[in-house]
Amino acid sequence: MTFSADDHRFMSLAIQLAEKGRYTTRPNPCVGCVLVKNGQVISEGWHYRAGEAHAEIHALQQLPIEVKAENITAYVTLEPCSHQGRTGSCAMALADRTNTGIIRVVYGMEDPNPLVAGKGLAILRESGCVVEGPLMEQQAAALNQGFFRRMQSQRPWVMAKIATSIDGRTAMASGESQWITSAPARRDVQRLRAQSCGIISGIDSILHDNSRLSVRREDSDLANIDDILQHPPLRVLLDTHLRIADDDNLSANIFDPSSAAQVLVFTSTAVTDSKMEKVLSLNDSVGDVSVVSPMIKVEQVATTETGHLCLEQVLTVLATRYECNTVLVETGATLLGGFIDAGLVDELIIYQAPVLLGSDARALANVSLTRMQEKIALTITDRRMVGDDLRIKARFH
Ligand SMILES: NC(=O)c1ccc[n+]([C@@H]2O[C@H](COP(=O)([O-])OP(=O)(O)OC[C@H]3O[C@@H](n4cnc5c(N)ncnc54)[C@H](OP(=O)(O)O)[C@@H]3O)[C@@H](O)[C@H]2O)c1
Repeated sequence: MTFSADDHRFMSLAIQLAEKGRYTTRPNPCVGCVLVKNGQVISEGWHYRAGEAHAEIHALQQLPIEVKAENITAYVTLEPCSHQGRTGSCAMALADRTNTGIIRVVYGMEDPNPLVAGKGLAILRESGCVVEGPLMEQQAAALNQGFFRRMQSQRPWVMAKIATSIDGRTAMASGESQWITSAPARRDVQRLRAQSCGIISGIDSILHDNSRLSVRREDSDLANIDDILQHPPLRVLLDTHLRIADDDNLSANIFDPSSAAQVLVFTSTAVTDSKMEKVLSLNDSVGDVSVVSPMIKVEQVATTETGHLCLEQVLTVLATRYECNTVLVETGATLLGGFIDAGLVDELIIYQAPVLLGSDARALANVSLTRMQEKIALTITDRRMVGDDLRIKARFH
């Protein structure tokens, strides 16, 4: 199928519009839509938040009343949905030609969501609409790598963020690590957190750094921070033996009730109910009485031969029970090594500060390799300065 320069131009615009939902659509995908008549854009739409209008409906709603509903082409980054979810079917709405005047739909990519998967395109074709695509599929897919991963593999897309020195160290031998990088890098991390469905850390980082694992208005430069904070990412703690239940640890900042973010504590199936009750009793003190969705929840998963939690199971629970598309691992060398050993990291985001921490300082990830043949190859996808620090994004193969 060949597409014109205009087709590419309008799809690029739809992709830019989809980007506007990056921080707020979860668990839904980001989608953009442009309506075009006689080579002119007559309306634009994007999906902003789950439960609100999808991109196509938003674009139809924005259509000026003086525009006659005929000969309109819709450019949409993702196959229009065929099913009735939180909102109605977009494919059916577009296919209603007498009202919409849409005669052609150009789509960026098919929706891998099994509830859609080609059915949206079929509805449009059956209505007599000309349906063409995929167009700019790679760019359209990049908008929603987490959503597609969850739909296809029942696992989230895993980003691991780590602050390092120029000699690749992440904490002093004592565990001290605050702060290696500068304030602009830490603000940038707030953006990573804000676009994630969950932020994961290991128990030792939580005990050592007392991190809040939250998105914070005062540390963020995002214009729509208030909307983001209405549905903040989950705070996720991996704690095999539930050490967080020890009395001294129950006041940890991860339970900070001033954040609306739910706290999920993963622990092993061997942990006793009474220990879990100690953690869950914190719900009473924050005044959260919701049985359906309490502020603090404990999930039990199996352990592996390493004696630690099975990370595959953790990710499956996050995807299937909590609709996590993308998670951000922010932890020390031990748990990050566990994720890398299990082959579960998709993307590494390194903030490298122009400092040396020396050879006694801690490594980036505890991964034990002995021969050059075993080296793990990554592809650098982006490199830029953030303040005085270098940010490197790299993908695992
Ligand atoms: N530079 C940075 O960006 C950065 C970021 C975060 C932390 N840090 C620093 O890192 C240090 C802490 O790192 P750490 O390596 O000691 O601890 P960590 O990676 O934060 O946590 C490790 C703990 O997680 C638990 N865990 C649960 N499941 C696991 C699994 N499948 N694999 C591995 N661990 C699992 C284990 O304890 P259980 O078996 O008891 O559950 C393990 O001991 C601190 O000094 C902190 O300041 C640096």
